[in-house]
Amino acid sequence: MTQLVDSHAHLDFPQFDGDRGTVIGRAREAGLVAILNVGTDLASSRAAVALAEAHDFIYAAVGVHPHDAKTLTPAVLEELRTLARHPKVVAIGEIGLDYYRDLSPRPVQRRAFAEQLALAAELGLPAVVHSREAHDDVLAALGEWDGVGVLHSYSGGPERLEEVLSLGFSVGLSGPVTFPEARKLRAVAALVPLDRLLVETDCPYLTPVPHRGRRNEPAYVRYVVEAVARARGEEPEGIARAAAENAHRLFEIDVRNYRDAEETEGKRGGP
Ligand code: NI
Repeated sequence: MTQLVDSHAHLDFPQFDGDRGTVIGRAREAGLVAILNVGTDLASSRAAVALAEAHDFIYAAVGVHPHDAKTLTPAVLEELRTLARHPKVVAIGEIGLDYYRDLSPRPVQRRAFAEQLALAAELGLPAVVHSREAHDDVLAALGEWDGVGVLHSYSGGPERLEEVLSLGFSVGLSGPVTFPEARKLRAVAALVPLDRLLVETDCPYLTPVPHRGRRNEPAYVRYVVEAVARARGEEPEGIARAAAENAHRLFEIDVRNYRDAEETEGKRGGP
């Protein structure tokens, strides 16, 4: 596959401190044309922007994760606003609600989510949304919000899919779609309209089979694509291409390599 986009990575995390450049090199060799590196707090958002400045095919999202919601002070929100004006910042995220780990009190999570959705609306940016055991509250908040984005590492099952799609949101699928026990996720993979599908690693976490249990990295997004393709009975190349186009449309990221490849193919008269 030559047209891969990893729509959700955390390459700024300490798990990559020893070999970040090598990991990014492997991503390029694996055919990735874009990586969206997603911030989880202020420091991580700053690091995401720095990575995007250093590498042409890396883009940044800035935001405070629900786990860190209690760190979203007015001063932090103001700095996120400043960071978000950087030309390579293409989304606000990762934001949302996590009632599974509850690392910030729920009212604090809801306030941080609302404030950052408002920031995204103000700047006209899409939202990268984390929802874990909080789908009712997340979908209610998005229903009152006038914008689009992605439900990343979607875990709402086929039963919430219609609601997500009716909000105009895309569905991000990651490593767990490759897990033998993840039947519901493969049902989602089969059902999601091809123009609403994004593929992601969420690295260093959620490592797909066959590397499950070890550190994840963007090059492994191909295993997610292959699992989605199997679930749909389609070719991986078409899934990769659709997901790249969707990332291009949603985040307005430059997928010039992808387009150039396609153009060259066209001129050669290839398939
Ligand atoms: Ni994440």
